Amino acid sequence: MKKRNLFLLAVIALVLITSVAFAGGQQEGGAAATDGPKVIGFSQCDSQQAWRWAETESVQNEAKVRGYELKYNDAQAVQANQIAAVRSFIAQGVDGIVLAPQVMTGFGPVLQEAKDAGIPVVLVDRLVAENEDLYFTFIGSDFVWEGERMGEIVAEETGGKARIAELQGTPGADPTIDRKKGFENIINTYPDMNIILSQTGDFNRTKGKEVMEAFLKAEGENIDVVYCHNDDMAIGAIQAIKEYGKVPGKDILVYSIDGIKDAFQAMVDGDLNAVVECTPLLGPQAYDALEAAWRGETLPKWVMSEDGIFLQKDAASVIASRKY
Ligand code: AHR
Repeated sequence: MKKRNLFLLAVIALVLITSVAFAGGQQEGGAAATDGPKVIGFSQCDSQQAWRWAETESVQNEAKVRGYELKYNDAQAVQANQIAAVRSFIAQGVDGIVLAPQVMTGFGPVLQEAKDAGIPVVLVDRLVAENEDLYFTFIGSDFVWEGERMGEIVAEETGGKARIAELQGTPGADPTIDRKKGFENIINTYPDMNIILSQTGDFNRTKGKEVMEAFLKAEGENIDVVYCHNDDMAIGAIQAIKEYGKVPGKDILVYSIDGIKDAFQAMVDGDLNAVVECTPLLGPQAYDALEAAWRGETLPKWVMSEDGIFLQKDAASVIASRKY
């Protein structure tokens, strides 16, 4: 073979090897495969609740364990901040994004941008109402199940007769929608169980207290039960009930969802009657999912968390083992 042809062959081989290696890098490393540690962007929707602190800690600690570099953003309960954070992660060329969305709608365009950039997005704890192709998987609890279990507990503990005040979570978030739905699925089968008041406390302790104060002012003598979509609001409601001059857990029964340490303490103290768990310890599963995405694997679109049910009588024996 002539020297010129040999040179041409060498150039073609080099181009081929380079492009195969580049394609492999794209698949394995998401957007920006490098030799350094994987870079993950974590967008947390809010940091005003104990449950969210536990989730953030889980995601941060597991990043350290796996040697990832974590970029963290707290959207402070403003969806526009969260969209901007995800956009900035994309611009920085992260290898993966973990997103705990504030609400179900409005994330479509930014998820499409992540997809176009080849960056896998794992949703944690809350789902979005967007095309499933726009995210890799959702890791979180079954909120309808949680609401239904709570409805059964309240029915059991009140003999199927209760005037209920409901403290809802953030409007438009799936735990709010589904915990309400699940609870109503059960109580609507009892003619004497009725929701007489229902308002959002935004999953927040301070707002939960304020809304409970307003409920008590309006109907203080007619509330048998307060059903709270999360523990933080229940802790606020308990405070409001005490300040109103009633005994939480007895005069007004209090029920909530999550299972944070403060809720277990409230059960031990007799202020809270039962908790349905919703685990925030999602860091390890979120990274398992991203690693699967980088390997080019697929996962089910919903990896469901396993949660438990805790009655007041169980709390004392369990509280020491609670991890959040
Ligand atoms: O999406 C999970 C829910 O959102 C948790 O119950 C709550 O505390 C949080 O803000």
